Amino acid sequence: MSDRSFVMIKPDGVAAGLTGEIISRIERRGLVIAGLKKLTVARDAAETHYAEHREKPFFGELVEFITSGPVVMLAVDGHGAIGALRTMMGATNPLDAEPGTVRGDFALDVGQNIIHGSDGEESAARELALHFPEL
Ligand code: RTP
Ligand code: MG
Repeated sequence: MSDRSFVMIKPDGVAAGLTGEIISRIERRGLVIAGLKKLTVARDAAETHYAEHREKPFFGELVEFITSGPVVMLAVDGHGAIGALRTMMGATNPLDAEPGTVRGDFALDVGQNIIHGSDGEESAARELALHFPEL
Protein backbone atom coordinates (compact mmCIF):
# COMPACT_ATOMS: atom_id res chain seq x y z
CA MET A 1 0.00 0.00 0.00
CA SER A 2 1.28 3.44 -0.93
CA ASP A 3 0.38 6.62 0.87
CA ARG A 4 0.98 10.34 0.68
CA SER A 5 2.25 12.71 3.37
CA PHE A 6 2.56 16.46 3.65
CA VAL A 7 6.03 17.79 4.53
CA MET A 8 7.03 21.37 5.13
CA ILE A 9 10.62 22.60 5.38
CA LYS A 10 10.09 25.39 7.90
CA PRO A 11 11.52 28.94 7.56
CA ASP A 12 14.62 28.04 9.61
CA GLY A 13 15.39 25.06 7.37
CA VAL A 14 14.98 27.08 4.19
CA ALA A 15 17.06 29.96 5.63
CA ALA A 16 19.82 27.53 6.62
CA GLY A 17 20.05 26.23 3.06
CA LEU A 18 18.82 22.75 3.99
CA THR A 19 16.16 22.42 1.27
CA GLY A 20 18.34 20.30 -1.00
CA GLU A 21 19.69 18.17 1.84
CA ILE A 22 16.20 17.35 3.10
CA ILE A 23 14.75 16.63 -0.35
CA SER A 24 17.78 14.47 -1.07
CA ARG A 25 17.23 12.43 2.10
CA ILE A 26 13.58 11.91 1.16
CA GLU A 27 14.43 10.77 -2.37
CA ARG A 28 17.32 8.56 -1.28
CA ARG A 29 14.95 6.80 1.09
CA GLY A 30 12.94 5.78 -1.97
CA LEU A 31 10.05 8.18 -1.46
CA VAL A 32 8.74 10.19 -4.41
CA ILE A 33 8.15 13.96 -4.56
CA ALA A 34 4.62 14.32 -5.94
CA GLY A 35 4.31 18.08 -5.34
CA LEU A 36 6.72 20.87 -4.42
CA LYS A 37 6.44 24.62 -3.92
CA LYS A 38 8.12 27.49 -2.08
CA LEU A 39 6.00 30.22 -0.54
CA THR A 40 5.43 32.29 2.58
CA VAL A 41 2.49 30.80 4.49
CA ALA A 42 -0.46 33.16 5.05
CA ARG A 43 -1.50 33.70 8.67
CA ASP A 44 -4.93 32.08 8.25
CA ALA A 45 -3.40 29.04 6.55
CA ALA A 46 -0.87 28.74 9.39
CA GLU A 47 -3.61 28.97 12.02
CA THR A 48 -5.67 26.33 10.20
CA HIS A 49 -2.62 24.11 9.75
CA TYR A 50 -1.83 24.17 13.48
CA ALA A 51 -5.49 24.37 14.66
CA GLU A 52 -4.97 21.40 17.03
CA HIS A 53 -2.56 23.61 19.02
CA ARG A 54 -4.81 26.70 19.18
CA GLU A 55 -5.16 26.54 22.99
CA LYS A 56 -1.46 25.86 23.68
CA PRO A 57 0.71 28.61 25.22
CA PHE A 58 3.13 28.42 22.28
CA PHE A 59 0.46 28.83 19.55
CA GLY A 60 1.12 32.54 18.89
CA GLU A 61 4.86 31.98 18.65
CA LEU A 62 4.34 28.96 16.40
CA VAL A 63 2.19 30.91 13.92
CA GLU A 64 4.63 33.87 14.01
CA PHE A 65 7.52 31.55 13.25
CA ILE A 66 5.88 29.54 10.47
CA THR A 67 4.81 32.75 8.66
CA SER A 68 8.18 34.49 9.21
CA GLY A 69 9.73 33.56 5.86
CA PRO A 70 9.49 31.21 2.92
CA VAL A 71 8.86 27.51 3.46
CA VAL A 72 9.09 24.61 1.03
CA MET A 73 6.01 22.39 0.90
CA LEU A 74 6.19 18.84 -0.37
CA ALA A 75 3.66 16.13 -1.10
CA VAL A 76 5.52 12.85 -0.67
CA ASP A 77 4.42 9.44 -1.92
CA GLY A 78 5.58 5.97 -1.02
CA HIS A 79 4.98 2.82 0.95
CA GLY A 80 4.46 3.85 4.58
CA ALA A 81 5.40 7.43 3.69
CA ILE A 82 3.73 9.06 6.71
CA GLY A 83 5.50 6.94 9.31
CA ALA A 84 8.81 6.81 7.44
CA LEU A 85 8.93 10.61 7.29
CA ARG A 86 8.09 11.00 10.99
CA THR A 87 11.01 8.69 11.79
CA MET A 88 13.32 10.62 9.46
CA MET A 89 12.28 13.94 11.10
CA GLY A 90 13.13 12.87 14.66
CA ALA A 91 11.53 13.89 17.95
CA THR A 92 9.66 17.22 18.21
CA ASN A 93 12.29 18.54 20.65
CA PRO A 94 15.60 18.33 18.75
CA LEU A 95 17.43 17.70 22.02
CA ASP A 96 15.59 14.36 22.14
CA ALA A 97 16.04 13.60 18.44
CA GLU A 98 18.42 10.82 17.39
CA PRO A 99 21.50 11.59 15.28
CA GLY A 100 20.70 10.73 11.68
CA THR A 101 17.33 12.41 11.86
CA VAL A 102 16.77 15.86 10.38
CA ARG A 103 16.07 17.44 13.77
CA GLY A 104 18.84 15.44 15.46
CA ASP A 105 21.36 16.59 12.89
CA PHE A 106 20.35 20.22 12.26
CA ALA A 107 18.35 21.70 15.17
CA LEU A 108 18.53 22.46 18.89
CA ASP A 109 15.36 24.46 19.60
CA VAL A 110 11.85 22.95 19.95
CA GLY A 111 10.35 26.13 18.51
CA GLN A 112 12.59 26.08 15.43
CA ASN A 113 12.87 22.45 14.43
CA ILE A 114 13.41 22.64 10.66
CA ILE A 115 10.70 20.31 9.37
CA HIS A 116 7.03 19.38 9.66
CA GLY A 117 5.49 16.09 8.61
CA SER A 118 1.92 14.82 8.93
CA ASP A 119 1.46 12.70 12.06
CA GLY A 120 -1.15 10.30 10.67
CA GLU A 121 -3.48 9.52 7.78
CA GLU A 122 -6.15 11.95 8.92
CA SER A 123 -3.77 14.88 9.33
CA ALA A 124 -2.07 14.05 6.01
CA ALA A 125 -5.43 14.21 4.21
CA ARG A 126 -6.34 17.46 5.97
CA GLU A 127 -2.96 19.13 5.37
CA LEU A 128 -2.76 18.03 1.72
CA ALA A 129 -6.27 19.43 1.08
CA LEU A 130 -5.23 22.70 2.77
CA HIS A 131 -1.84 23.24 1.12
CA PHE A 132 -2.06 21.21 -2.11
CA PRO A 133 -5.71 21.55 -3.25
CA GLU A 134 -4.40 21.33 -6.83
CA LEU A 135 -3.13 17.76 -6.40
P1 RTP B 1 5.11 19.51 13.55
O1 RTP B 1 3.61 19.46 13.68
O2 RTP B 1 5.64 20.91 13.35
O3 RTP B 1 5.58 18.56 12.49
O4 RTP B 1 5.81 19.00 14.89
P2 RTP B 1 5.43 17.73 15.74
O5 RTP B 1 4.27 17.00 15.12
O6 RTP B 1 6.68 16.97 15.97
O7 RTP B 1 4.99 18.40 17.10
P3 RTP B 1 3.58 19.00 17.53
O8 RTP B 1 3.24 18.44 18.84
O9 RTP B 1 2.58 18.88 16.43
O10 RTP B 1 3.95 20.53 17.76
C1 RTP B 1 3.92 21.44 16.67
C2 RTP B 1 5.08 22.40 16.82
O11 RTP B 1 4.85 23.22 17.95
C3 RTP B 1 6.10 23.57 18.53
N1 RTP B 1 6.11 23.23 19.93
N2 RTP B 1 6.60 24.01 20.82
N3 RTP B 1 7.38 25.16 23.29
C4 RTP B 1 6.90 23.93 23.26
O12 RTP B 1 6.82 23.25 24.25
C5 RTP B 1 6.47 23.38 22.00
N4 RTP B 1 5.88 22.21 21.81
C6 RTP B 1 5.66 22.12 20.48
C7 RTP B 1 7.20 22.81 17.83
O13 RTP B 1 7.85 23.68 16.93
C8 RTP B 1 6.43 21.73 17.07
O14 RTP B 1 7.09 21.37 15.87
MG1 MG C 1 2.50 17.97 14.56
